[in-house]
Amino acid sequence: MDKQQAEARIMQLREKLEQLAYAYYVQDQPQASDQEYDRFMQELILLETQYPEFFEPTSISQRVGGAVLDGFQKVTHKKMMLSLGNAYNFEDLQAFDQRVQQVDTNPTYVVELKIDGLAMSIHYENGKFKQAITRGDGVEGEDVTSNVITINSIPLTIPYKESIEFRGEVYMPKDSFFQLNKKREDAGEDVFANPRNAAAGSIRQLDSKIAASRKLDAFWYALPDAKEHGLQTHEASLCFMQQQHIRVNPLRKVCYTMQEVWEFILEIKEKREELPYDIDGMVIKVNDVDVQEQLGYTVKTPKWAIAYKFPAEEVETRLLNIKLTVGRTGKITPNAVLEPVRVAGTMVSAAQLHNEDMILQKDIRVNDYVVIRKAGDIIPEVVRSIPEKREAGSEVYQFPTQCPICGSHLFRLANEAAHYCSNPDCKAQVVERMIHFASRDAMNIDTLGERKIEFLHEHGILNKIEDIYCLEEKKDEILQLEGFQEKSYQKLIQAIEESKNREFEDLIYGLGIRQVGKKAAKILAKHFYTMEALMDAKIEELTQIKDIGEITAASICAYFEEPKNIELIQKLKAWKLCMSCEKEEIKISKFTGKTVVLTGSLTQYTRAEAKKILESMGANVSGSVSKKTDYVIYGENAKSKLEKAKELGIEQMSEEAFQQEVEASEV
Ligand code: IVH
Repeated sequence: MDKQQAEARIMQLREKLEQLAYAYYVQDQPQASDQEYDRFMQELILLETQYPEFFEPTSISQRVGGAVLDGFQKVTHKKMMLSLGNAYNFEDLQAFDQRVQQVDTNPTYVVELKIDGLAMSIHYENGKFKQAITRGDGVEGEDVTSNVITINSIPLTIPYKESIEFRGEVYMPKDSFFQLNKKREDAGEDVFANPRNAAAGSIRQLDSKIAASRKLDAFWYALPDAKEHGLQTHEASLCFMQQQHIRVNPLRKVCYTMQEVWEFILEIKEKREELPYDIDGMVIKVNDVDVQEQLGYTVKTPKWAIAYKFPAEEVETRLLNIKLTVGRTGKITPNAVLEPVRVAGTMVSAAQLHNEDMILQKDIRVNDYVVIRKAGDIIPEVVRSIPEKREAGSEVYQFPTQCPICGSHLFRLANEAAHYCSNPDCKAQVVERMIHFASRDAMNIDTLGERKIEFLHEHGILNKIEDIYCLEEKKDEILQLEGFQEKSYQKLIQAIEESKNREFEDLIYGLGIRQVGKKAAKILAKHFYTMEALMDAKIEELTQIKDIGEITAASICAYFEEPKNIELIQKLKAWKLCMSCEKEEIKISKFTGKTVVLTGSLTQYTRAEAKKILESMGANVSGSVSKKTDYVIYGENAKSKLEKAKELGIEQMSEEAFQQEVEASEV
């Protein structure tokens, strides 16, 4: 075969495979056997290796994965990726309808399923798949092209040749989720709590072979800039997408009244469990793109669409026992042991009870019949007990006085509802601290899950956070343990090495300082920039920081007063973990370095949002108008401050003008 023939054959194979994948994964009408498909694929892979000049990173051969990245590139979305406002009942939907009718008295809606996955935008250029970007914070996402390419139903070529973007949801089908968790359980790894988390974890894998093995899928539900492509309605956009072989959910309906919308919602609610993927509600969108434009947007959500969220399913079962678990800070959490029961698609046998006060307020007793539900459809909780069904002689719950793990006494701090174990060396605390440190939101050492930490602790290898970075010294010991081979050991060491690149705020969070969650860790990083500065911070300085309260401030100081913790930080520093971050750059704008006052009631932003935006644009936001004020931004019914601004000759700016400035600074 000469070069020209090879090129022709490569093109032919790509086209054939594309066509077969479309028939199989999108239309659900296979046109060839699996073996035949695999044969074509092998031939293509072989030719692409023999003739690398014809290789393309978005060739269908890349479906099986291959690319391994160091990290994901950040990409700014051309148009912000928004989220949706929520409706919880028919009245909320009627109110939405009323708002829409102020613009169009006879609106048409498209009602779709709200897929529970992660939002994604995909880009095609000249008919070829180009890039996939996660939603991120809506403004900026991450380029996850090499992982998204492994999703079989996504076409790599489309007939349409203009540059075009589609938006939708990548999700993990229920089947893939159960298979994956079974495999992880068998391998002694942590299981994913739900398909959404599993999908998110898979898309964030740097090795696309892993993503490929996770069997993700996607539905696409939006075409930004529809009019630029000659499309006047949302339904027309969806049909156009289908013509382009883009996978659009067929379970949707064009409706002309809210009553009709509601009936369709009820119909889907009935079918929900049978669907092969999770949905957490329905999305109602105005069909006409001109009407959408007239309705416009708030800061975060379009005014032309709304999400109807399904109510959490409530189920009755029996509470068999109350068991205590000990957290990394020694905090005791009571958990209900339940007679297993099916709730929102999964079997539930445990639920959180929060603390003693909650148990007493709800008068929940051992052996009671209780009503449970899944909060946010994920974590099961006990809603109430059913005292009518209680057997005679049942007793009010008495909170234990001793730690279930080490037997030390439990205490309760003033102003806190939780009990704590008084022994800092309690095995449960030691293990939980390491689990927290290695967890995804902290140092993200994904091969060092809960079970592995417990296992290595039981064998005396991991006794404190520091030990994680000294595992290489214990290589021989580790390799003798059951379940460890050279390969899994190397993977573990590599993941630990990679954790050194985690950001400063992740490390602060990972330390597990009481009261310092993800958000506080971020605030602290942004405020202090270096670990030294944070360690030196006095309580007065900490309480000055917005969103850091007195209890948190005291807890931070107490943490850095403990010599053991200082020692830990010193060691982490010597191992070159990230102990600082860059000062955040502000967007240069008309407001940079200016003093701005907000007055009147704003309609598009809350006060706090407007303040935050202004601060990110470099403004100093003040509460009162004086000669030093540069701008007064006014909403509806603005009175005295606006008057004063006029008197002093200070520039006044309407909320609308402000919004335009904000939007202009976003592009
Ligand atoms: S439309 C401007 N349609 O729900 C329109 N979103 O809470 C924005 N989602 O971030 C989204 N299914 O990730 C839309 N059929 C659907 C959806 C959907 C799931 C997700 C999406 C969005 C979130 C909003």
